[in-house]
Amino acid sequence: MRKNIVAGNWKMNKTLQEGIVLAKELNEALANEKPKCDVIICTPFIHLASITPLVDPNKIGVGAENCADKESGAFTGEVSAAMVASTGAKYVILGHSERRAYYGENVEILKSKVKLALANGLIPIFCVGEVLAEREANKQNVVVSAQLESVFDLSVEDFSKLILAYEPVWAIGTGKTATPAQAEEIHAFIRSAVAKRYGKAIAENTSILYGGSCKATNAKELFANPDVDGGLIGGAALKADSFKGIIDAFNA
Ligand code: 13P
Repeated sequence: MRKNIVAGNWKMNKTLQEGIVLAKELNEALANEKPKCDVIICTPFIHLASITPLVDPNKIGVGAENCADKESGAFTGEVSAAMVASTGAKYVILGHSERRAYYGENVEILKSKVKLALANGLIPIFCVGEVLAEREANKQNVVVSAQLESVFDLSVEDFSKLILAYEPVWAIGTGKTATPAQAEEIHAFIRSAVAKRYGKAIAENTSILYGGSCKATNAKELFANPDVDGGLIGGAALKADSFKGIIDAFNA
C-alpha cells in the first residue's frame, strides 16, 4: 500500500552532539502519539550509529543522505551501502539535486548507488527535479523522465521498494514553494511514467514525496493533493517543533 511519509534531510548541518539532541527531541515529541505517516530522519553518515538506537523504530526510521556507487575497496572517504546498513539505518537518499549538481552524480552513477542500496536492504529515497531554466522552458517532464532512467531498469520487485521524491531545484532552500497545483501536476506525471513502465498497480503503491521549502504552513495543502504522499524536508527538519508541525499536517 502507498504510504504517507514525512522525511527530513539534515544535509550538512548539526554536529554529532546537536544531532543527538534533535533526534531525542523529535522522539520525545512523538512519544505519546502514533503519527499518521511514516517519519524518517536522514542524517550525516557519522551520526547514524549514535542516532539509530536513540529513536523508537516503530515511529522514526533513520536514513543516510548518500552512499557510494562501489561495493567496497580503495575509495578513500566514501561510505558504502553495507556500512550504512550496519548502523541500523534503513533508508538512503539518492539522486538529491545537490549531489547531482555539486558532485557530478549522473544517471549511471545513480543506477549503481540504487542497486547497491537495495542489495544491502536499504530503501532508497530517489530524488528527481528540474532547475529553474528547465521549468521556465517547460521542460520539467522531459528532465524528470531522464532522471527516472536510473531506476527504470530495476526489476518490478526492486522498484516497488523505492520511495520517490520530486524536488524542484528552484524551490530548495529558496522559500519559493511549488504551488499545490504545480506539485500535483508533476507528481501525477511521475506516477503515470511509473505506470507506463511498471503498471498501474505498482504506480498506485509508490509513495511520491514533495520537497522544496515545505513547512508546517504549506504542508497541509501540498499533501492534500492525491498524488503528493508527503514531504522531503530540508530546513524545517532542523528543529523538532517545525518538523513535527509538518508531520501534524497528516493529523489535521
Ligand atoms: P528545503 O526544505 O530546505 O527547501 O530543502 C528541501 C530538500 O532539499 C530536501 O531534500
